[in-house]
Amino acid sequence: MKPKVLVTSELPGDAISRLEEVAEVHVHTSDIDLTKEQLIEQIKDKEGVISLLVNEMDKAVIHAAPKLKVIANYAVGFNNIDLNAATENEVIVTNTPDVLTEATADLAWALLLGSARRIPESDQFVRDGKFEGWKPQLLLGRSVHGKTLGIVGMGRIGEAVAERAKGFNMDVLYYNRRPLPKDKEQRLNATYVEFEELLKLSDFISLHAPLTDDSYHLIGKAELALMKSNAFIINTSRGPLIDEAALVKALANNEISGAGLDVFEREPVLEPNLNQLPNVVLAPHVGSATIETRVEMANLAVDNVIAVLKGLNPLTPVNL
Ligand code: DGY
Repeated sequence: MKPKVLVTSELPGDAISRLEEVAEVHVHTSDIDLTKEQLIEQIKDKEGVISLLVNEMDKAVIHAAPKLKVIANYAVGFNNIDLNAATENEVIVTNTPDVLTEATADLAWALLLGSARRIPESDQFVRDGKFEGWKPQLLLGRSVHGKTLGIVGMGRIGEAVAERAKGFNMDVLYYNRRPLPKDKEQRLNATYVEFEELLKLSDFISLHAPLTDDSYHLIGKAELALMKSNAFIINTSRGPLIDEAALVKALANNEISGAGLDVFEREPVLEPNLNQLPNVVLAPHVGSATIETRVEMANLAVDNVIAVLKGLNPLTPVNL
């Protein structure tokens, strides 16, 4: 009898058909996410699950599945999974690092440029038929070239964001739990600074830290107050890194110039008034959303499940 695997959403590409060669696969095909109760019901007899970041894989879910061997999260982040509960129950957790690094760094840059150069406002202006010809003061944004970029969290994605800054001749500052080795700093042309200094000196701040107890509300009222009044904040990591209510106030009062947000504190719900502000560019958590990347993520998640079901080491474990 083949082992049973739950996939909590349809995935792009044909990775699932490879999984079907070794497992009896149940794919949740509805666009409406599984509720907690449905997840608990459906995971009961499964040995593997491919989960999304919207599936809360907590103790109750993990305990409901006595045969469970692997949770392959279809994301690089895994803050939706209770790692302790998984490890206690000898469940291997895997994620999808590397394959989404470049796409996510691209989106951070898209938001940075989009907010600095007011692309959504410009687009709306033309669509509304308001374009009446070139004007010296029409939709003035901020220059990016030669400015200072502050990167918070210098992991794979932070590094890819820094690489791209070379083309804009920017000074790159970064804050990380640990400074990078000197040769890497030199290659990236990046300088380690304390967090407060980064907030004070940067024209653009891009967040690339995972969500943990330590990074929750990393950017709040006090941190926003330290930023330059012409600075922008970009978030493609996890929404709760920013106190969204404090951000709305800072943007509304022009305490900072703008923001580019791909992630939100209580997805999919936005802080009231956030979507009314002209100085914020919004995206619906699409950092890794290219066809190529999402197919690679599916392949990696499936390869991880197949490896564990065969008793082999998974490619990208997070709790081994
Ligand atoms: C991740 O991978 O953690 C992203 O947020 C979704 O691609």
